[in-house]
Amino acid sequence: MTTLGTPLSPSATKVMLLGSGELGKEVLIALQRLGVETIAVDRYENAPGQQVAHHARTITMSDPAQLKALIEQERPHLVVPEIEAIATPMLEELEAAGVVRVIPTARAARLTMDREGIRRLAAETLGLPTSPYVFCDSLQELQAAIDGGIGYPCIVKPVMSSSGKGQSKISGPEDVKKAWDYAMAGGRVSHGRVIVEGFIDFDYEITQLTVRALGASGQIETHFCEPIGHVQVSGDYVESWQPHPMHPKALAESRRIAQAVTDNLGGQGLFGVELFVKGEQVWFSEVSPRPHDTGLVTLSTQVQSEFELHARAILGLPVNTQLRSPGASAVIYGGVDAKGIAFDGVDEALRVPNTDLRLFGKPESFAKRRMGVALAFDADVELARERAKKAASLVKPRSA
Ligand SMILES: Nc1ncnc2c1ncn2[C@@H]1O[C@H](COP(=O)(O)OP(=O)(O)OP(=O)(O)O)[C@@H](O)[C@H]1O
Ligand SMILES: [Mg+2]
Repeated sequence: MTTLGTPLSPSATKVMLLGSGELGKEVLIALQRLGVETIAVDRYENAPGQQVAHHARTITMSDPAQLKALIEQERPHLVVPEIEAIATPMLEELEAAGVVRVIPTARAARLTMDREGIRRLAAETLGLPTSPYVFCDSLQELQAAIDGGIGYPCIVKPVMSSSGKGQSKISGPEDVKKAWDYAMAGGRVSHGRVIVEGFIDFDYEITQLTVRALGASGQIETHFCEPIGHVQVSGDYVESWQPHPMHPKALAESRRIAQAVTDNLGGQGLFGVELFVKGEQVWFSEVSPRPHDTGLVTLSTQVQSEFELHARAILGLPVNTQLRSPGASAVIYGGVDAKGIAFDGVDEALRVPNTDLRLFGKPESFAKRRMGVALAFDADVELARERAKKAASLVKPRSA
């Protein structure tokens, strides 16, 4: 039985989000609707999720001492990581000591915080199909890995990075040093390790949202959402849609892979499993043990968005992954480097039929920072994509 309390009272059910960007903001709103007391943590003040939570805290989440002190002070029932750059060994320690429950598990947060833990688990422990890969600690090792079998073209990524930062494609020997230098400049921490992956010439890529939630008799059940198709530019998502049509065998294989990975990571919550597909063949790429950026589309397509699904699953409530309508999302970039920007044309954008917008409220804009998203639903995905892109293009961010 799940019992929820009253926020700001002794009975409160308290949830702490570690990371309070646009995805965390939607999770926090879903929790607020259930009367959960929310604590939004981020590395900077007035992060999107902090603007809708009961409490806002600003700390360096990768610092174990700061993280421990905050959790011990706030005593949340659940800690929900929303980003990768967290002192996850400290979360494991606190979870083991029974201080807190981490979503989905502290081990899952640790294994997915860099590319090595999750890749070795998927490929070496679970035997799932992935691109060929080698981890390298120097330019010499990178060149040796390529010559030793990875070949050209290939992709180099810092082990600690997201949203395509520091990532580049190597087409031939002349690109190797440039890719190494770029990875060293773009990694989250400067410990200089990269993964080099053979380039998969896929037909398309999808996100398979997968939910581990409690069933009526208290056992974990796995639920799948319809596949989400997306376009990535320089490793960053610019457009997504749902459902993405798939060969039944490729869909079954995608779900087999998603089930294997999420079974192993365990716990309760929603996962975004990234997969590459060519014909009937499927490769595992990576997994987020939390809502996925391409899943923003579910705000317009599903009976329960990925954020509501996550909120429900972590609280032990039942979930419904049903599609309501085909739909699409298109990213709105800042376009300018400035603080406190203004958005012109919001009315024109919303006059595009069947559309909606999320403006995240980030205090500072960068040319390539995701500041909002346009959403659309329609009779088919193609029409919805056109509408979402149109609406996104009509929103004009500018310095105020
Ligand atoms: N081995 C590969 N072969 C072909 N394309 C790839 C390969 N690895 C990555 N890509 C492309 O680059 C994109 C980003 O890669 P990946 O998901 O590993 O990076 P990321 O920085 O974690 O991105 P994000 O945080 O946005 O998910 C993929 O979605 C895919 O389009
Ligand atoms: Mg990715």
